[in-house]
Amino acid sequence: MGKTTTIKFHDGHEMPQLGFGIWQVPQEIAGEAVKSAIETGYRMIDGAYLYMNEPGLGEGVKAASVPREDLFITTKVWNTDHGRDKARASVERSLKNIGVDQLDLVLIHWPVPSQDKYVETWKAFIEMRDEGMMRSIGVSNFNKDHLERIIAETGEVPVLNQIEVNPELQQPDMRAFHAEHDIVTQAWTPLGNARSFEADPIVNAAKRTGKSPAQVIIRWHLQLGNAVIPRSVKPHRQAENLDVFDFTLTDAEIEAITTLDVGLRTGPDPSVFKMM
Ligand SMILES: NC(=O)c1ccc[n+]([C@@H]2O[C@H](COP(=O)([O-])OP(=O)(O)OC[C@H]3O[C@@H](n4cnc5c(N)ncnc54)[C@H](OP(=O)(O)O)[C@@H]3O)[C@@H](O)[C@H]2O)c1
Repeated sequence: MGKTTTIKFHDGHEMPQLGFGIWQVPQEIAGEAVKSAIETGYRMIDGAYLYMNEPGLGEGVKAASVPREDLFITTKVWNTDHGRDKARASVERSLKNIGVDQLDLVLIHWPVPSQDKYVETWKAFIEMRDEGMMRSIGVSNFNKDHLERIIAETGEVPVLNQIEVNPELQQPDMRAFHAEHDIVTQAWTPLGNARSFEADPIVNAAKRTGKSPAQVIIRWHLQLGNAVIPRSVKPHRQAENLDVFDFTLTDAEIEAITTLDVGLRTGPDPSVFKMM
């Protein structure tokens, strides 16, 4: 699993704890970015149909000198593809776009409660997982009420919920709920648009460890138990973001970073977001 620790899902499968996100990586350079990330040591790539770079993801996977079975590929089903038939067509399209026979993990990208189709979509995910189109199924941007509902109506607990987490939005309630239900918290926009790079707790920990603010924040995620998917199209930053396994933050440093939580999102609120 490359240079990172792994996280075990409740369904028995494993995923690298630290992966590589590709939101906003243009299709024209996605192949090169993914290849470079894999050659740097990343083994988990976080994609989505919405990112319009699934073919590039597939090109990067094929161009890198690492066998497919050693890589973990995630994609997501977009808001316009909720519902049984559309969700299936979306996963079929992603398999074709990426050029693989099976995905490691597929997520419902947003619950979009206003269209009220996420339970039906989740049922389709269970069927597709059982047929082998993907090994594991999860969700993204689900609040507690959305999680409770899919669990109550299907008995199937997602292996993972990918939500926004960074020093200014630490989501302690969601993380505790996930821990109670054996759901992995995967942090998106983990660096928080660099908003806390100059905050004292980050700067002090960076000085003590000789690491960068980004490395301190990624290490903080790992020590909280989060899976984390930073993105950079720059090979030197890809390497920097992966070079976080040779130091440990102290309890006092973790505690100091906790004080940066102001509940401020960089992205939309899942209870109302319905972009199509
Ligand atoms: N499920 C969802 O709804 C959702 C939403 C948002 C994101 N995501 C996923 O989460 C992934 C990560 O989130 P993100 O892409 O929003 O943000 P991020 O990884 O927190 O930050 C990416 C930004 O930080 C810069 N950066 C990366 N490493 C750096 C470093 N070491 N020092 C300084 N700057 C650095 C990058 O610039 P350069 O490229 O120029 O280095 C880029 O502008 C996405 O790519 C996507 O896979 C999911």
